[in-house]
Amino acid sequence: VPNRRCRVIAVTGARGGAGATSLAAALAVTGARGGRQVLLIDADPLGGGIDLALGLEDRSGPRWPALAATAPGPAPLGGLPAMRPGGRGRLVVLSHDRDRPVRPETAELTTLLDEAGRTTDLVVVDLPRWPGSGLSAVAERADLALLIVPAEVRACAAAAAQARALGGCPDVRLVVRGPAPGGLDAASAAAAIGLPLAGWLRPEPGLAAALERGEPPGSRRRGPLASLCRELLDEQLPGGP
Ligand SMILES: Nc1ncnc2c1ncn2[C@@H]1O[C@H](COP(=O)(O)OP(=O)(O)OP(=O)(O)O)[C@@H](O)[C@H]1O
Ligand SMILES: [Mg+2]
Repeated sequence: VPNRRCRVIAVTGARGGAGATSLAAALAVTGARGGRQVLLIDADPLGGGIDLALGLEDRSGPRWPALAATAPGPAPLGGLPAMRPGGRGRLVVLSHDRDRPVRPETAELTTLLDEAGRTTDLVVVDLPRWPGSGLSAVAERADLALLIVPAEVRACAAAAAQARALGGCPDVRLVVRGPAPGGLDAASAAAAIGLPLAGWLRPEPGLAAALERGEPPGSRRRGPLASLCRELLDEQLPGGP
């Protein structure tokens, strides 16, 4: 019986380095810290492996090529690298292998989403920006698609096209990330792009250095990332685990 409460959240960025991977990882960490069973799917073969962003790079367990090799059939999610950021929650991670990047077939991604729904409360997908990466197919299956855009004019211009690629999702929202070098505010960005606003994300203090140390984004409970993620997850998965 599919887990009816399972929510799928897709995250993508309006430009390179927008903060999509950090936001996806923070959502997954926050969800697991809140006691939920979470699967984080790295759908960006050229991102260097999302395991590295979580400090899980030395954990054994399948990455994309190994998992893809087992298809067709149910994906063996049980053996994936996992962490317990607190309580009874658990975060399992399907990362790319930085030494052997493969491009997952769209069907592999969608099968995985269907399969994961049986055992998890929350699936977060870190999507790359380019077309043909499963962007639209994942968006169609997502309950919520978040497009993160730095508060910059050029990033907002790029976001409009990315928003169209996410059009199959019934709930596409914008996360506008500071700083705003020219003073662009979130409401103006949202109006220009034509998407509702999920939130304004203040720059996370020390995030770049934390990533270097292998500390997962969202680890600082009072930080802007964790606060926004809690707000979104309380809305998507009301009532807790
Ligand atoms: N919320 C944030 N607050 C402050 N800095 C951030 C934030 N998100 C991202 N950054 C900075 O931007 C860098 C890139 O972030 P991240 O890898 O999450 O972006 P991305 O959109 O996934 O990039 P890519 O285009 O490579 O996929 C981080 O290393 C960090 O320095
Ligand atoms: Mg990324």
